[in-house]
Amino acid sequence: MRAKLAHRAAVSDPALETLMLALDGGDFPRGEGLFLGARPHPALDGWKGLSGWQPLKPLADSWEKAGHSGSAEPPGGRWPLVLFLPGKARDEILHGFALARDRLADGGVLLVSMANDEGAARFEKELAAATGGVTSIQKHKCRAFHVRNDGVWDEARFEEWRQLGGFHPVPDTNHVTQAGVFSHGRVDAGSALLARHLPRGLSGKIADLGAGWGFLSAELLSTSPGISRIDLYEADARALECARLNLASHSGCEIGFHWHDVTTGIGNGYDGVIMNPPFHRGSGTDLELGRDFLRAGAAALRRGGRMFLVANRQLAYESCLGELRMAWRKLAEDATYKVIAATAP
Ligand SMILES: C[S@@+](CC[C@H](N)C(=O)[O-])C[C@H]1O[C@@H](n2cnc3c(N)ncnc32)[C@H](O)[C@@H]1O
Repeated sequence: MRAKLAHRAAVSDPALETLMLALDGGDFPRGEGLFLGARPHPALDGWKGLSGWQPLKPLADSWEKAGHSGSAEPPGGRWPLVLFLPGKARDEILHGFALARDRLADGGVLLVSMANDEGAARFEKELAAATGGVTSIQKHKCRAFHVRNDGVWDEARFEEWRQLGGFHPVPDTNHVTQAGVFSHGRVDAGSALLARHLPRGLSGKIADLGAGWGFLSAELLSTSPGISRIDLYEADARALECARLNLASHSGCEIGFHWHDVTTGIGNGYDGVIMNPPFHRGSGTDLELGRDFLRAGAAALRRGGRMFLVANRQLAYESCLGELRMAWRKLAEDATYKVIAATAP
């Protein structure tokens, strides 16, 4: 029974399961290894030499809970085996190939797994063109492909991909973002609408939940000099790195940067909470994630504290605000988004 349950849990993450299948079926080095985009799996239990990089806090927590060592930054060094579960954005994936290449020892093996509907065939072709050919398996609507570093890869192409990483300016702003983070290279339209409707002159202690690269916090700080402290809570370590740079010029108040899973709750005593809550977990829509953000925000407010949020119009957050006994009203809406203000009881 236990084995059956473990199996069912594993196929809920088909790219990971396909990676494990390829790993099990191939002749791969099993000493030291690096897992980029690390996620735990029973087949990896007890593999002491395996280090992981996982920038998303909830996944990083589950990786460490499974007994592995990990970091929020890709570690240096070179490994005989690099496993890679990429994110979803093109630049993030190609930059990930360069990241993996730079951590591969001579003669080492890179093994990648991706879902078909996230472009597995296309990215497999890209890697094959850069390395001279890959070996591939298909299962669970995913492809796992691997290649050995024989020292004659197309380095010009890897250099191109390397350049996709690092900080890139957001046009028409003073901000930077990096590949893979929410709203890379642009301001999110929903967040822009919220920023236009945030009250001028908010004061005291503020929390920004799911702060991303810091757009909302930066906007708020530029119009509300009475803010004494703002705490940015964000799950993606790469986004938080951008936020540190984007808020560096705001020296008038204390700023806290927290690599944190908001669904586990945050500090309390806040005068105000702002958010553009996420509603995707993995590849699917998950309204409950957004509701968890509302709950965490409500619990963090002092009595009478105010919450400002933006959401897609079709997302039914109002009932959740009602359950939290918050008085709410709609401040604005356009064809896609609504902005809501709610007050803690
Ligand atoms: C819709 S985006 C808004 C980002 C940013 N506030 C903006 O306006 O550009 C939601 C953000 O929540 C973050 N996020 C998702 N799940 C999270 C969690 N469990 N804890 C903290 N942040 C999370 C995402 O990484 C993303 O940056």
